[in-house]
Amino acid sequence: MTILITGGSGALGTELKKIFTDTLTPAHQELDITNKKNVADYILNHDIDSIIHTAALTHIRPCEENKPIAWKTNVDGTRNLVEAVLDNKKKIKFIYISTACVFDGHTGMYKESSIPYPENFYALTKLIGEYEVSKLREYLIVRTNFVAKKKWPYPGAFVDRFGTYLFAQDVSQGIMDVHRENMSGHVHIVGDKKISMFELAKLTTPEIQPMTIKEYSGPRLTMDMSLDTERWKKYKISDP
Ligand SMILES: NC(=O)c1ccc[n+]([C@@H]2O[C@H](COP(=O)([O-])OP(=O)(O)OC[C@H]3O[C@@H](n4cnc5c(N)ncnc54)[C@H](OP(=O)(O)O)[C@@H]3O)[C@@H](O)[C@H]2O)c1
Repeated sequence: MTILITGGSGALGTELKKIFTDTLTPAHQELDITNKKNVADYILNHDIDSIIHTAALTHIRPCEENKPIAWKTNVDGTRNLVEAVLDNKKKIKFIYISTACVFDGHTGMYKESSIPYPENFYALTKLIGEYEVSKLREYLIVRTNFVAKKKWPYPGAFVDRFGTYLFAQDVSQGIMDVHRENMSGHVHIVGDKKISMFELAKLTTPEIQPMTIKEYSGPRLTMDMSLDTERWKKYKISDP
């Protein structure tokens, strides 16, 4: 059972590589998802059973400021993979990693059946990526919300943005669980507690400073990214 992991050098990809065995984890240079021929050749020349597609442009500000690159990576890149799978004779399972940010963030605790309404360009490209993936006969779209377990990369964290956050390693365990279970459609892999970003940051960075959205300027942010699930179990965030 060979699993292709795109974005293997990223926060989630790094954790997936630790727990999945028999993986192909090509670097960006070896498999550039924006290059249709590169993607088609790679899929044709490797005996792949499943794809876990994590590669994306993930930061909100760069996506807003470089819309063509964000679109090319998150939408066209996903479509290139989907079309390569459709062109392949072999049945390949496809898991797409999406985000809680596809929802508007006004109320929180969104379920798999809730209606998406993205607040920014990053989230829009991820939602359209979901649509591309839904062209496959069988697929799993995982919506989630996580950070790498490491020192918070900024001096402050929002007390007024919320999520059912997990660490990347908890999400990778969740992905292994749903992969084993052969789930299809949409599933939310979520933590069992809604906490603020500040509370999340404090777990790894006790000296973190509280800040509010009033101190921020930039693209619109999804304020309440908390997710609920009507299809799967919830996870406890692991110890820092
Ligand atoms: N982190 C979050 O808060 C969060 C929350 C929910 C969902 N997600 C989703 O989860 C997935 C993983 O997120 P992450 O935080 O692990 O991402 P990340 O750390 O930003 O890593 C992104 C990965 O994508 C690769 N990549 C970018 N452009 C590529 C291209 N054209 N071809 C091939 N590879 C390319 C990067 O490789 P290089 O660095 O070499 O370019 C890197 O390995 C993403 O799809 C994201 O939308 C993230």
